[in-house]
Amino acid sequence: MLMKSPVNSVGYLLGCFQRFLIFLAFSLFTVASQADERVLDAIKAGDVAAVKSLANEGVDMNAEVKPGWPLIRMAYLMKNPEIMQALIAGGASVDGEWALNETSCGKCHSRKIPGIAEGKEGGVFVPHLAGQHSDYTAKQLRAFISGDRAHHLEGFNLGKSYHESSILIEGLVDPIADYVQSLERFDNSEVIKTANHDAGSAIYSKQCASCHGENGVDTMNSSTPELAGLYSVYTFNTLGLFKDNKRTHNIASSLSEEEMQAVADYISAM
Ligand code: HEC
Ligand code: HEC
Repeated sequence: MLMKSPVNSVGYLLGCFQRFLIFLAFSLFTVASQADERVLDAIKAGDVAAVKSLANEGVDMNAEVKPGWPLIRMAYLMKNPEIMQALIAGGASVDGEWALNETSCGKCHSRKIPGIAEGKEGGVFVPHLAGQHSDYTAKQLRAFISGDRAHHLEGFNLGKSYHESSILIEGLVDPIADYVQSLERFDNSEVIKTANHDAGSAIYSKQCASCHGENGVDTMNSSTPELAGLYSVYTFNTLGLFKDNKRTHNIASSLSEEEMQAVADYISAM
C-alpha cells in the first residue's frame, strides 16, 4: 500500500473541507428556500418598494428563513424599520415575546424576567411593564412614537433612542402591549415598608385610589395604569413630570415633595 505523502494529506483535508462547504451551502440553500428568494433579496438590499410589490403579489411574508426565523427577524437584524413595517403591512405577524425580549427593549425591560426592570444600574428609573393593561401600554408606545410623550431621562440617555420610531414601529405596538399584559406582575413582597408608609397610604386612598384602584391593580378602566409595585424612584420622578406639565396626567396634583415621596414609597410596597 502506498503511504500518503504530506501533500496528499493536505489535498485530502482540503477535499473534505470543500465537501463540507458544499454541504453547508446546500443546507443553507434548502432551508432558505422556504422563504421566497425575492423577498430575501429585497430585504438584504433594503428595497422597501420591492417588498411591498411582492406582498401585493401574494408572496408569503410569514415564511421562515430557517426554522424559528421568520423574515421579520431578518429585517430587524438589518436594522431596517421601514422594511419591517412593509413586511407587517404585507401580512407578517409579530411575536410580542420576541419583540420585547429579544430586540433592544430587553436591555432595560429585562430579558431575565420579561417585563420587569431590574432595580440596579439605573433600573429603578425604568417602569415595570409586566401585567400592565395592554390599552395603557399601547397608548404610551404610540405616544413615544409620535413624540407626545417625551423622555424625562434624556440626560441619562436611558430609553430615548429606543422608544423612537427608528426602532419602535407601529407594527410592534399591539403585539408588545398584548404580550406585556399576559406577563406576571412584579413580585414586590420583599419591599420593606418605609416610615412614611401610613402617610403615603392616606394620600393614596384619598387622591389616587378612585382611579388607580384601592390595591393599585383594579383600576377604573384599561387606560388607567396599574401602579402597584412600580419602583419608588420611577413614580417620584413621574409625579414630578406631572407637576411640571412635562407629562399629562388626569388630575393636577398639589402634592409637596414630601407627599410625593410618601405616596411613591407606598406604591412600591403596595
Ligand atoms: C435604555 C433603557 C430602555 C430601553 C432599551 C427601552 N426602554 Fe422603555 N422605558 C425606559 C425608561 C427609562 C422609561 C421611562 C421613560 C420616561 O418616563 O421618561 C421607559 C418607559 C417605557 C414604557 C412606558 C411604561 C409606563 O408605565 O408608562 C413602555 C411601554 C416601554 N418603555 C416600552 C419599551 C419598548 C417596547 C422598548 C423597545 C422598543 C423599550 N421600552 C426600550 C427604558 C428603556
Ligand atoms: C381621575 C383619575 C386619576 C386620579 C385621581 C389619579 N390618576 Fe394617576 N393616572 C390616571 C390616568 C388616566 C393615567 C394615564 C395617563 C397617560 O395616559 O399617560 C395615570 C397615570 C399615572 C402614573 C404613570 C404610571 C406609569 O406607569 O408611568 C402615575 C405614577 C400616577 N398616575 C400616579 C397617581 C397618583 C400618585 C395619584 C394620586 C395622588 C393619581 N395618579 C391620581 C388617572 C388618575
